[in-house]
Order: sequence, then structure tokens, then C-alpha cells
Amino acid sequence: MYKIAPSILSADFSRLGEQVEEVQKAGIDRIHVDVMDGVFVPNITIGPSVLKSIRSLVKVPLDVHLMITAPERFLESFVAAGAAMLTVHYEACPHLHRVVQMIRSLGAKPGVSLNPATPVDHLSEIIEHVDLVLLMSVNPGFGGQSFIPSSILKIERLHTLISERGLSVEIAVDGGINKETAPRVAAAGANVLVAGSAIFHHKRGIIYAIEELREGLRGIGCKS
Ligand code: DX5
Ligand code: ZN
Repeated sequence: MYKIAPSILSADFSRLGEQVEEVQKAGIDRIHVDVMDGVFVPNITIGPSVLKSIRSLVKVPLDVHLMITAPERFLESFVAAGAAMLTVHYEACPHLHRVVQMIRSLGAKPGVSLNPATPVDHLSEIIEHVDLVLLMSVNPGFGGQSFIPSSILKIERLHTLISERGLSVEIAVDGGINKETAPRVAAAGANVLVAGSAIFHHKRGIIYAIEELREGLRGIGCKS
């Protein structure tokens, strides 16, 4: 079983509402929102007010990926704006356990994300407390980058860690996911596929792009 989470980072922001409705028509599972502060990553994107403005159109969970330093400052505003899931970076949180507890106490699902150079072993003490691990398969900050091949090994290691402990934590992969890489990450154990440019920049349109991703996954016997 896998889920598709289009990342609106690659959407046309002048038509954001329309594009959100279009991906939902294709039956996607959640909307991935990339929040960047220009400090933790070398780019700036959007904040809670944009979330609020699309909230009434969104029928699936809003999955918010916080690429910001000291994310505890904004958790409440993002939940109030409609975030159902909040993912923070391991590298941005010296008090990760506390931040994860805060997210849960606000009523959202906590996730933790790892940059490409951060080992999966670092999750050992937090894995039991999160609902999702978001493995970055590119260096965070921009859409349209190439998938880092060593991410496959990290997915496999994470899958082993989760199964050994008998947990049901989701494994999400973010960066460079397209029709070629989606079946590879799913075969390695990922069950949430975040894709931005492969969906929003596809020459044949959003609906076709999502069907193409599904096609590749069916090819290896994966069900949505
Ligand atoms: C990158 C973001 C991603 C981005 C992925 O820092 O976290 O969610 O939108 O874009 P693609 O799918 O184009 O690599
Ligand atoms: Zn993301």
C-alpha cells in the first residue's frame, strides 16, 4: 500500500486553488506543503496564511514539511491554519522529543525528516514517538533536483528498524520522485511518495502525471 502526496512547491502559485483541486480529482492521498525559512534551507516559501487560504478546498490531510529552524515557534499557527501532519527536521531540533510531544498535544500527527547526510540510526530514540519519517532523497530547498541513489539503502534500513520494533510508522520519501524512481523506493519499503515537479511540471498535465506514477507502481505489484 502506498500513498501519493503532491508537493505544491512546484505548483503554479497564481492558480494554486485550481491545481489543488486538480490533484484531488486524481484521487491523491494528502497535500504536501513545503515551508522554508531561508535559514535552515537556502530558499523561502510560504507560511500559515497560504495554508489557511487553500484549507476549504482541501479534502485530504495537509501534510506540512517544516524546513525551518526552531519550528516550535510556529507549530500552533500551522495547526490552526489546517495542518493535519507536521514534520520537523532532526537537524533543526536539539529538543526533538519535546517538539514531537508538542505536535501531538496540538492534535496533529508528528513526523521527523532526515537530510541525505543524516544516518537512519539517529532515529533510534524517537522512532516510537512519531507517525511518519520523511527521508529526504535530495538536499532540501528546491524542487526539480535528481534523486540521490544512496537513499534506497536508507529506506531499507529504516524499513528494517520499523519492522524489528513492530511499529506502523510511515516511510515517506521526498525529492526526485518520478515514474522511474517511484517503483524503486516503493520496492525498498517506502509507503508515502512525495512528488513535486513530476506532477506539476509534466508536459501532459497533472492527471496524466499521477496516473503515470501509479502505472509504474502497479508494474511492481504495489497497490494504492
Ligand atoms: C524539497 C522539498 C520537496 C520538493 C520535491 O526541499 O521538500 O517536497 O517539492 O520536489 P521534486 O519532487 O521536484 O523533487
Ligand atoms: Zn517536502
